[in-house]
Amino acid sequence: MKKTALILLAVLLLSGCQNVSENNSTDLTTSSAATTTTSSSVTEASDMTTKTEATSVSMDETTSTTPVTTEQTTASEPSDSSEFGTVGNGEKWAYFVVNTDNPLPDDYEIETAFVNDTKEMEKTAAYYCLKMVEAAKEDGIELKVLSAYRTIQYQQDLFDRNIEQRKSWGYTAEEAYADVAKNIALPGTSEHNAGLAADIVRTTDWDVLESFEDTEEFEWLSQHAQEYGFIMRYPKGKEDITGYIYEPWHYRFVGTYYAPLIKESGLCLEEYYEQYGNNSQ
Ligand code: DAL
Ligand code: ZN
Repeated sequence: MKKTALILLAVLLLSGCQNVSENNSTDLTTSSAATTTTSSSVTEASDMTTKTEATSVSMDETTSTTPVTTEQTTASEPSDSSEFGTVGNGEKWAYFVVNTDNPLPDDYEIETAFVNDTKEMEKTAAYYCLKMVEAAKEDGIELKVLSAYRTIQYQQDLFDRNIEQRKSWGYTAEEAYADVAKNIALPGTSEHNAGLAADIVRTTDWDVLESFEDTEEFEWLSQHAQEYGFIMRYPKGKEDITGYIYEPWHYRFVGTYYAPLIKESGLCLEEYYEQYGNNSQ
């Protein structure tokens, strides 16, 4: 009996070790007062084990950029947005593409604000994110922001940890790189580095899962996220265009003007931007 319990404990411990943990990592760094926030014990994107064909991509190709510096403030409504939910010209700046081909400038700076105890976003995105979480709550839906603003260093660490994880599963370096590159953006090319992305999950989840699409939380977001300026950024069927797997949890703040238009169009951000650029008024 005792032995059975020990074996069971060992199995549980081993299976728990499969995830790459963010334990004790410094997720958020602010330059104004060198404030750091210790993140909770969560994992990100570690469940995605889809093995793909190896490519010739080299691990040496990681972008090296200086960390984004930020000032931390309180979430604030854009000053020229007359009423929440209406066209806010003050948010149109949020409509731009960040991806592998369009990295953030090295000196990109933002002011951040907390969206929960440990996670921050760019302050306007944070304002709308909080509004969205509040509105969902009023409808009986609890949303949890699992990951939001990430420093460049944190993005690098996340990328590297996932590479190591896959190697521990038996992937070659090339296979590991190819797989991780479809799940996690290189430092400086992630919307999380701009403070404009939130990974949203159920309160009971400690990782991002594709099965999130079957939840009432996802259903609520599908109906309402655009009202708060957010779009589901990496839709199913657009993987070849976005360069990333389907991520039903990743929401990108583009502002309350563009989000409904993009949602209505059925296009992903790359397609919409290419088709309309800054001309959709
Ligand atoms: N998972 C998305 C692509 C990111 O790392 O920004
Ligand atoms: Zn994300």
